[in-house]
Amino acid sequence: MTIQQNVDLLPYNTFRIPAIAKYFINIKTIDDAKALFASEIFKKEKHFILGGGSNVLLTKNFEGLVVKVEIHGKEIIHEDDTSITLRVGAGENWHAFVMHCVDRNYGGIENLSLIPGTVGAAPMQNIGAYGVEIKKNILMVEGIEKATGDVRYFDAESCKFGYRESIFKQELKDQFLISNVTFKLTKGDHTFNTTYGAIDETLKKFGVQTLSLKTISDAVIYIRSNKLPDPAQIGNAGSFFKNPSIQADLMDFIKKEYPTIPSFPSSHGLVKIPAAWLIEQCGWKGKTFDSIGVHQHQALVLVNYGGGKGEKIWELAMKIKDSVKEKFNITLQPEVNVI
Ligand code: FAD
Ligand code: EPU
Repeated sequence: MTIQQNVDLLPYNTFRIPAIAKYFINIKTIDDAKALFASEIFKKEKHFILGGGSNVLLTKNFEGLVVKVEIHGKEIIHEDDTSITLRVGAGENWHAFVMHCVDRNYGGIENLSLIPGTVGAAPMQNIGAYGVEIKKNILMVEGIEKATGDVRYFDAESCKFGYRESIFKQELKDQFLISNVTFKLTKGDHTFNTTYGAIDETLKKFGVQTLSLKTISDAVIYIRSNKLPDPAQIGNAGSFFKNPSIQADLMDFIKKEYPTIPSFPSSHGLVKIPAAWLIEQCGWKGKTFDSIGVHQHQALVLVNYGGGKGEKIWELAMKIKDSVKEKFNITLQPEVNVI
C-alpha cells in the first residue's frame, strides 16, 4: 500500500483547481480497497473517493486521504444473440467504454457519449444526457463497504436511481467504494433514442439516412462539443446545479411574467425548468470575474479560465443561487460535489 503525501490535485479535477491532499492513494484491486479500509490511517484520517474528478469542486486543501479508484478491466459475463452483459472496473474511463461498445455494436449507452469521468461514478448520480439515463442499462453495482470490507451487490432497483440521484448519495452516502458495474446492452434490434430535439436536427444536418449506434453517438458528440466547454481547454464540471422541479401553481405564476419559460413534465405532477434558463434570466450568462465565470454558451456551467480558486467559484455559485431565489422563488441545488 503506497500512500503519497502532499499531492497537488490540480491534474485530478476538471475544474483545474489546485489543492493539496495530505495523503493520496491509488486503489487498483478489490484487495487494495479491503486492505486500505482495515488500515490505521484510513480509520484515523478523513477521506474522499475520487474518480475522474469531473463532478467535484475543491474549495480548499484536503487535510485527509484522497482515495483514487483505478480498478480496471472489462469482462464478458454473458452473451447471446440479442444481448451482452459486461462487468467493468470502476476506474475505466466512461467515454472510452462507450466507444468500446459503439465500435462493437453494443447498444444502449450511445446517447451518453463524451460524458467525462469514470465507470464507477456513473451510478453515483445516475448519469444522464440526451434523453437517456444510465439506470436502464445497469444490471448490478458492486460496492465495498468501508466499515467492514465486505463486497455487496446492488441490482438496479436497490440502487434507487432518480434524476441525478442514487442510494449512494442518500441512505448509503459515503459508505461504499464502487468497484465494478455490470451493464446489459443490446446486440441487435437496438432501441434508438432520438427524442431529444437536437439529435434529430443534427442527424438531418449530417444527411444520415439509416440510424446506427455510431451515427447517434457522433451526433451527441457534435452537439456536446459545440455547447459545452472542453475541460482540457477551460476548467469546468459540467452543469453546476440540477434542473429544479417546481409545483404547477408556482409555474403558472412565473408564466404570467415570463410566458416563454421552457418546461418539461417531471414526476409527482411537478414541472422541470432548465436551471440554465433561470440563471440566464438573472443576467449571469457569459459574465466573467477575474479568472472565473459563467460560460457564454451554457449558463449552467461555471468555468475556470485558469488560476481560479475553488472558494471563489463556490461564492459565485451562491450568488447565482441567491439571485434565482430572489427573482423566481426557486431554490437551486448543486449537482457538483463540493469538497
Ligand atoms: P468524480 O468527480 O471523481 O466523483 C463524483 C462523485 O462520485 C464524488 O462524490 C465521488 O466521491 C464519487 N465517486 C466517484 N467514483 C466513485 C467510486 N468508484 N465509488 C464511490 N464513490 C465514487 N454528468 C451527467 O450526468 N450528464 C452529463 O451530460 C454530464 N456532462 C458533463 C460535461 C462536462 C464537460 C463535465 C466536466 C461533466 C459532466 N457531467 C455530466 C458530470 C460528470 O462527468 C459525471 O457526474 C461523472 O459521472 C463524474 O465521474 P468522475 O469519475 O469524474 O467522478
Ligand atoms: N438554456 C438557456 N440558456 C442557456 C442554456 C440553456 O435558457 O444558456 C435553456 C434552453 O431552453 C434549453 C434548455 O435550457 O433548451 C436545456 O438546455 P440543454 O439542452 O443544454 O440542457 P440542460 O438542461 O442545461 C441537461 C443536463 C446535462 C446534459 C444535458 C443534455 C442537468 C443538470 N444537466 O442540461 O448534464 O448533458 O441536459 O441532456 O440535468 C451535467 O450533468 O453535468 C450535464 C452537463
